[in-house]
Amino acid sequence: MPIRPRRNRISAGIRGLVRETRLSAQHLVLPLFVQEGPQSATPIASMPGCARLGIERIVQVAREALALGVPAVALFPALEDARKSPRADESVNPEGLLQRTVRALKAALPQLVVITDVAMDPYSSDGHDGLVRGDEIVNDETLPILAAMAVAQARAGADVVAPSDMMDGRVGAIRAALDAAGFTGTGICSYCVKYASAFYGPFRDALDSAPRAGDKKTYQMDPANVREALREVALDEAEGADWLMVKPGLPYLDVVRAVRDATALPVAVYHVSGEYAMLKAAAANGWLDYERCLLESLLAMRRAGADLIFTYGALDAARALARAP
Ligand code: PBG
Repeated sequence: MPIRPRRNRISAGIRGLVRETRLSAQHLVLPLFVQEGPQSATPIASMPGCARLGIERIVQVAREALALGVPAVALFPALEDARKSPRADESVNPEGLLQRTVRALKAALPQLVVITDVAMDPYSSDGHDGLVRGDEIVNDETLPILAAMAVAQARAGADVVAPSDMMDGRVGAIRAALDAAGFTGTGICSYCVKYASAFYGPFRDALDSAPRAGDKKTYQMDPANVREALREVALDEAEGADWLMVKPGLPYLDVVRAVRDATALPVAVYHVSGEYAMLKAAAANGWLDYERCLLESLLAMRRAGADLIFTYGALDAARALARAP
């Protein structure tokens, strides 16, 4: 008697009953680039469909996200060069662009989960995530800068701060600073396993944040490694991270699985700018169906073990899921 796995695929109803993995809007985080000029919008050439937006427009898009069931946004500020400096001083300005954006979002949409990026690069005249001295990215002197940045963001109302810098010890330093300032309820999403990836190219266009010299290989991880990821997981757990992120997404699903199996913490994955740009470029040529490939990519991340997914396609995915859950 032949065994017939196709019986479990015979109708949409049966397929739905036996489906192992679910993707829904509530798993998604929408990254947004904010710039000065409340109503401004500057398209990002390498990320079709994405733009740097002024604060008022950011609030509109976040409102739309919530209406579509996307609960969270992740904010990245695009600063004018004049505001950048070697020590990223602008990052703690209570009237700085990011802090004003967080306050506007929380005032208009209190239930929105606002996630802020903690790293020096958008504020740094060197374009690195840590402090530069000569050819070196110095670790321990970067930690107080990151900790102060995180406290400034929490004070503005951020629900979760997300260190994306890959300095050693930063999760512990940030946790201690947040607690000392009374922000015991502010979460930390650690970019725990972040690779030195060429897939971040379009993001660096968006923020004009590419390193002015050198690369990020002395702090971001070597794409060849996965055991090393488990060391980062153990450290960030011990230092008090609330969520652990793997980044990029699709080329690193084996890492997502390894991290999922190694931790009881929620695992986030970042479907990064280059992954989004590839889908858009292929779709623009008529070579791929953007929406279907987007949903398949995000579902694959869930299958690999991700709880939540940062994606520039969050609204597109949520709209598609609303039509055909
Ligand atoms: C830097 C940061 C980067 C991204 C998020 N935070 C780029 C980098 O490390 O150079 C990339 C996100 C993306 O490519 O979508 N702190």
